[in-house]
Amino acid sequence: MRRPEPHLIAIAAALAVGLAALPGPGAGSAAAQDTVAARGRAVFEARCASCHTLAPGDEGLPGPSLAGLIGRRVAGDPGFDYSPALHAAAARGLVWDAAMLDRFLADPEAMFPGLWMGENGVRDAADRAAVVRFLADASRR
Ligand code: HEC
Repeated sequence: MRRPEPHLIAIAAALAVGLAALPGPGAGSAAAQDTVAARGRAVFEARCASCHTLAPGDEGLPGPSLAGLIGRRVAGDPGFDYSPALHAAAARGLVWDAAMLDRFLADPEAMFPGLWMGENGVRDAADRAAVVRFLADASRR
């Protein structure tokens, strides 16, 4: 029996490495999703949790509860005293979805001039996408 050509072995090895590196529908992408979820939770805890809870109802924090945020109308925490800017947005019938939340966090004041949230957006696009995902997941629970 003839031995396989060394260069054919090298090509086969390169192909195997290339295939392994491709993102597939298997365990690799599930791990990537977990990483985004963990990053989103970390961003929320570091940048939002001092002012916002995910539990419904008043917890005495400076900001409204974000429980069930995605699908909720703007200024939708009945226990929170919102700014005139957010009351005006609510009167226009705006409802939070993931795309709107992403735009909001990129520059909160630009979306709602007169907002009482200060400079507490998330400029980094990957951090922002992660926290939007985290809040969307939390809204489904
Ligand atoms: C320093 C406190 C503070 C921090 C930090 C903060 N927020 Fe806020 N947030 C507020 C306040 C106060 C309001 C209400 C603003 C108003 O009435 O104008 C608000 C409003 C909101 C709203 C609108 C809620 C609604 O019911 O329509 C969203 C969404 C939101 N914040 C998300 C976030 C996210 C996500 C983060 C973290 C990246 C964050 N906020 C960080 C204080 C904060």
